Amino acid sequence: METVADEDSSSMKKRKLSISPLTMVEAQHILPIHSTIFSSKRTSPLCAFASFIFIIYICGIGVYLWSSNFACRLRNFGDPSSIPLSNIAFDVEQRGRYIIIKNYIRSAIQPNKGNTMTLASAALFTDLSHLPEICGRWKGPVSISVYAPGSDFKTALKKIFSLRLANSCIHQNVTWHLFFDFEFSPSWDKFQSPEEEAGMSTAASGSYDVWIKGTFKSHGHLPFPANIGRNVAIRESKTDFVLVGDLNYYPSINIIPRFLELLKYQGPTGNRVYVLPVFKMAGYGKPPETKSELVQMTAEGNIVLPSGTEDCTQCNIFPNARKWLEVRSPDETLSVYYVSREKEELESWQPYYISTRDIPLFDEDQIKEGKFDRKLQLLELCLQHYEFHILDNAFLVQVQEVTETTKDVNVLQSFIHHNNLAREKKIEDLLCRYGSDTGCSI
Ligand SMILES: *[C@@H]1O[C@H](CO)[C@@H](O)[C@H](O)[C@H]1NC(C)=O
Repeated sequence: METVADEDSSSMKKRKLSISPLTMVEAQHILPIHSTIFSSKRTSPLCAFASFIFIIYICGIGVYLWSSNFACRLRNFGDPSSIPLSNIAFDVEQRGRYIIIKNYIRSAIQPNKGNTMTLASAALFTDLSHLPEICGRWKGPVSISVYAPGSDFKTALKKIFSLRLANSCIHQNVTWHLFFDFEFSPSWDKFQSPEEEAGMSTAASGSYDVWIKGTFKSHGHLPFPANIGRNVAIRESKTDFVLVGDLNYYPSINIIPRFLELLKYQGPTGNRVYVLPVFKMAGYGKPPETKSELVQMTAEGNIVLPSGTEDCTQCNIFPNARKWLEVRSPDETLSVYYVSREKEELESWQPYYISTRDIPLFDEDQIKEGKFDRKLQLLELCLQHYEFHILDNAFLVQVQEVTETTKDVNVLQSFIHHNNLAREKKIEDLLCRYGSDTGCSI
């Protein structure tokens, strides 16, 4: 990962350098020619001097505009080479160096577009143990992309089939997309149905050894490109509204019918997203389902308010969190508690929210382990003047993570380094596109 990031930065430097000699040459050409014209006409020295300054000024503006525009254009260079996918029987798409099989395993129930809402997420198969509880709370369509490179592919499929068998909500309501690095994909020439790939019938493909301990991902120090999975999960969901979540964040109950009820009074949603406040379990045990339970558990010290720093818990600070707990409207209605229009509020906040399906995409260069991977998408919402409506009586609870994370400090550092570099580059792109005085910052 480090090498990729470094290559990026050095090529950026080269590009920048390649601009300046050109502009120097141009400036040298223009200036002497103009100054000789003026001196030959014998205008007053003062006037000549003023004209000279004026010309330098105009040239300066021209060169500046030309070079900044050029730099913007240069940055959108170079797509990775594409891989022929047309003769595969499944709905397959390439995103950068990743391949994604969309709707590989479909939910038994087709969701009804208008009167429900999809929970969209990206996950590793080690996160899936949360799913029965989440599906039981959500009670509606769920669209999940599972990152499963190498032998994780087969393991993930087995896990998915056992969940479908054991849990009727998952069987009825969850649709699965699987994705992996191109170089760690199941063999394309004899790529088969999910049942066959899982090895449930005799002819199983896949040439990777299954790791006894850990996963293929962890052994290969592969990063989790969650944003690719999130984007596909959103685009493949069938409903007008989606909540993009993570599997260690449990929703409170009855969100779907209450939210749809709220929408009736809200009129056209326009550029609006509906934020679910986030709280965190202090230990293990059953996460609260309603606001009454949440308030009770907070008083008992079993729930902690979003706060702190370090592992990005600050990303969940939302404005007026403590007051939110004090406001008590009847549990069964959902309302807007507060509208955040202050652009600065987004600086230390990565909210989860319900939105329409056509929100700006998540940035696919950002990786989960590199932290702040959803930040660029929020910046884009801000640049497009979205309003953040914070809901009352609906929330998410962050539970203790069971999933394995990258423990190697050096690998982790290189992931963070990668995200920071890629993010800086993208921010420049966004500022090129939207202008630099928008008041949005991250
Ligand atoms: C599946 O979703 C539907 C709504 O699309 C819901 O009515 C049903 O209860 C869900 N199934 C289960 C077992 O929760």
